[in-house]
Amino acid sequence: MLPDKAPDEDVFCGSADLKRDAHVASFEKYKELYMKSIETPDEFWGDIAKDFFWKTKHSGQFLDYNFDVTKGEIFVKCMEGATTNICYNLLDRNVHDRKLGDRVAFFWEGNDPGDDLTVTYRELLQRVCQFANVLKSQGVKKGDRVSIYMPMVLELVVAMLACVRIGAVHSIVFAGFSAESLCERILDSECSLLVTADGFYRGDKLINLKLLADEALQKCRDKGLLINRCIVLKHLSKEPEEILGSQSPPTKRSCPDLQQDKQAGRVKKTRPVPQVPWNPDVDLCWHALLRGASDECEPEWCESEDPLFILYTSGSTGKPKGVLHTVSGYMLYTATTFKLVFDHQPDDVYWCTADIGWITGHSYITYGPLANGATSVLFEGLPTFPNESRMWEIVDKYRVTKLYTAPTAIRLLMKFGSEPVKKYKRESLKILGTVGEPINPEAWQWYYNVVGDKRCPIVDTFWQTETGGHVLTPLPAATPLKPGSATFPFFGVVPAILNESGEELEGPSEGYLVFKQPWPGVMRTVYGNHPRFETIYFKKFPGYYVTGDGCRRDKDGYYWITGRIDDMLNVSGHLLSTAEVESALVEHKAVAEAAVVGRPHPVKGESLYCFVSLTNGVTFTCTLEAELKKQVREKIGAIATPDYIQNAPGLPKTRSGKIMRRVLRKIACDEHDLGDISTLADSSVVQQLFQNRCSTAV
Ligand code: WTA
Repeated sequence: MLPDKAPDEDVFCGSADLKRDAHVASFEKYKELYMKSIETPDEFWGDIAKDFFWKTKHSGQFLDYNFDVTKGEIFVKCMEGATTNICYNLLDRNVHDRKLGDRVAFFWEGNDPGDDLTVTYRELLQRVCQFANVLKSQGVKKGDRVSIYMPMVLELVVAMLACVRIGAVHSIVFAGFSAESLCERILDSECSLLVTADGFYRGDKLINLKLLADEALQKCRDKGLLINRCIVLKHLSKEPEEILGSQSPPTKRSCPDLQQDKQAGRVKKTRPVPQVPWNPDVDLCWHALLRGASDECEPEWCESEDPLFILYTSGSTGKPKGVLHTVSGYMLYTATTFKLVFDHQPDDVYWCTADIGWITGHSYITYGPLANGATSVLFEGLPTFPNESRMWEIVDKYRVTKLYTAPTAIRLLMKFGSEPVKKYKRESLKILGTVGEPINPEAWQWYYNVVGDKRCPIVDTFWQTETGGHVLTPLPAATPLKPGSATFPFFGVVPAILNESGEELEGPSEGYLVFKQPWPGVMRTVYGNHPRFETIYFKKFPGYYVTGDGCRRDKDGYYWITGRIDDMLNVSGHLLSTAEVESALVEHKAVAEAAVVGRPHPVKGESLYCFVSLTNGVTFTCTLEAELKKQVREKIGAIATPDYIQNAPGLPKTRSGKIMRRVLRKIACDEHDLGDISTLADSSVVQQLFQNRCSTAV
């Protein structure tokens, strides 16, 4: 299934420096380990499990499962019989067994430059134990669900790990979601307590989170769920002595003056603080509760398949799905993917720009890095605030070695050219990563050439909320890279490509991406709705986990994600991926971002309707339109020639930055009933797009 040898044309390879210390240093080694992971999983994962603490060991086989709906209920069980606690493995094991207590766990960088904090593993353990005791004193028990609605602050990590320590199940709701979405998620998971904050700044904009939380709790009450406890962190209004980490011994600081300002509580006080409504019957102050709490807390020893957390992800139809992950498999999988995909080394400073409210933040800010004793940057702000150099300033400030971000951020920054990047040295960078959507080769090249100065391999990691961790990904020192390809499967993962009839395709081919067997980190169920889980992921092609993504395998065996299957277009009987056309459009220097949808066509079935956001300073003209058509035709072929090209100064995006193609499809067809657009970040964009619609083909 894997190629006999790595291809030798058109690829990028890790440097000799990187290979010297790498965990997996060659393609041969990758193949050998991959075969071991598939043929003898008990041995492969058993060796990895030895690094972790188990209160009791597992008995029997490593993975027990049924992936075939025709043979009965779908289930996956990993390390049955074992008991452990992830919080213990992330913190106590690092502090006590590995003697990493003084190591920095997080450099927290606030929205405003100069607003920063440092927390060590020892301090984090103390705070987590204290908050775990607070939760217990509020009656939270093993198995209870706790909803967390917080900005990107250290206390978010504290709250999630405190749940884990006592065996409670966290359900984190991204702080960009509305009160309605929060309510829907609290109701679905029947949470007994909410942890939130007064508010936060996104750039210059104040978000009064507590108001939204109150509104959500009121909506819950109206629908019959009474939540009578809400713990509120005073993030913007707290006193200096309440700031996490402020009493820690000085560790590496690059802004000593600003740090002093910070400790005097000055930096934040330059901005208005939100007026927080306070209901004494429900609201509890985080700091007041913490003050009397002991910093020792015996962990709750959990079974391998006990629930760990619920995270909601949007469903193609209506209601979001509560993806449920469990203890041992998720821990091993996130720890191992983090270690190998970012080739983690002890002196690394790792930075993942995702929000903890999404799966990337769960797996690759909290669980994977902490399991490895890594030092990370936790960033509250925006890549363009106060200016377009912010990310590179942070890279230099903390000497970041591994940077993990999203193609949408790369394309956003590309708009401003290389000058804001080149102002900073970035010489500490060693490995770059991307996640979340297919990365078009042009963005890949910019990331590689401009950000990484042609020194740093890019790991294009394909995975989903459902997969728990990376499933298709390069290993930076082992895998020759092709720009835009997520390359090969991670250990334990067996991909296949199916055609519409469910037949496995061999060799170069394109179709549905599926997985033939589970890996430790795969989701176990949709919370409270196992039949829905089976229907969405297992019914279409019995015997396989269906990702919902299209994929192409090239002659060298590389996997290329072509976008969601629902983003596939059929033009005159030819299957086209929207991502492919978009990539061709953005290769034009005038185009910063593009989104392509299908519009019904009487002869061809579907025609291509393209929305393009132009680079700063460029105007939309007929000449440009013609150039773009030509560009796509040249890159893909006449079949892909766009029928419509619309100037789109803004595109409708979710708050996590994903383009809502569903909305664009409606705009293309001039249909004003847009369905649920509650996840849209900026709804004014839609109006503008309707006004600028193209009615005739170009
Ligand atoms: C897409 C994010 C191409 C894909 C971790 C998947 C990608 C969905 C990549 C999951 C990638 C994620 N290349 N597409 N490297 N990574 N995707 O659940 O369509 O927010 O199914 O998880 O994002 O999104 P989710």
